Amino acid sequence: MTILGIESSCDETAVSICKNGKILSNIVSSQQVHSNYGGVVPEVASREHDRLLNYLVIESIKEANISLNDIEGIGVTKGPGLAGALLTGVSFAKGFSQSLNIPIIGINHLEAHIYANFLAYPELEYPLVCLLVSGGHTQIWYIKNIFDYELLGDTRDDAAGEAFDKGARILGLGYPGGPVIEKIANRGNSNAIKFPRALMEKDNLEFSFSGLKTSLFYLVKKEKSYKIEDIVASYQNAILDVLVEKLIRSIKMKKVNTCIIAGGVAANKSLHNLVNDKLNNRINVYYPDITLCTDNAAMIAFLAEIYFMKGISSDLDFEVIPNLKLI
Ligand code: KG4
Ligand code: ZN
Repeated sequence: MTILGIESSCDETAVSICKNGKILSNIVSSQQVHSNYGGVVPEVASREHDRLLNYLVIESIKEANISLNDIEGIGVTKGPGLAGALLTGVSFAKGFSQSLNIPIIGINHLEAHIYANFLAYPELEYPLVCLLVSGGHTQIWYIKNIFDYELLGDTRDDAAGEAFDKGARILGLGYPGGPVIEKIANRGNSNAIKFPRALMEKDNLEFSFSGLKTSLFYLVKKEKSYKIEDIVASYQNAILDVLVEKLIRSIKMKKVNTCIIAGGVAANKSLHNLVNDKLNNRINVYYPDITLCTDNAAMIAFLAEIYFMKGISSDLDFEVIPNLKLI
């Protein structure tokens, strides 16, 4: 099937066309205006999506080398995300579906992040463990079979991506924090400062990053002698250490031999290196290409096609769900 995917849950306006599980076009427009504010401004995000969507769909059809009438179904993110931002994408997609008289399905953004791995690696087999690390979520999932999820761990407060973003804000490094922290951390000593690691007691699979952020805040306020690259490298290491430790615990607990990493933080190369070092090739570890880790619409179109092939679609009156969960 030829599917149009639309993603507008936060500050990326993304449109993609996928056909039979393969990407024909995948366009992401990252809204730069938010960098002036140090974080995403919801109303501005909605207006930007509204301004860009039509244009990006036209570009996406051109790039895929198809015509409008070749599109057989539409997948659009229905949550979780910013209410207004989600609404712009869903309203656009509903109009599109109605005018072309083709099916539509509202897609869970978290599930799509997970399935980005299946888009990148069609050979992936269940069961597996997934570390889902994005700007809003830090979770470990045991995935026994298709659409069969068990939540093993979640964060009590900030998500890992949020820890990167808030850390960068404290250090005046701009938004989003992940890429810039990763870049600066590459020049620093990751053992220079011992930042706290929360909830590390045996068998604990939960996360908490708010204490880490507070300790960075007080360190930069009181202590001026450290080099910025050492602070950043140690801070990043404190986040990654905990993620990898809990991932390994989950892998052992569920006795799987495959794990996947999904979401924006999965783009972090130091995370890949740490996972590979600690697992030492004993487990198959997958992370999609960076373009499929961060928000994109190919993962939405790909997952929509899986649903359509199972005969599942949404009625036209489905609503956005800003706090949508996976289960
Ligand atoms: O999945 P995503 O694009 O959007 C959400 O669903 O939230 O994830 C965005 C998050 C941001 O917090 C961003 O700082 C983080 O992913 N991120 C990274 C990197 N690239 C993006 N974190 C660490 N290292 C990176 N290279
Ligand atoms: Zn995302």
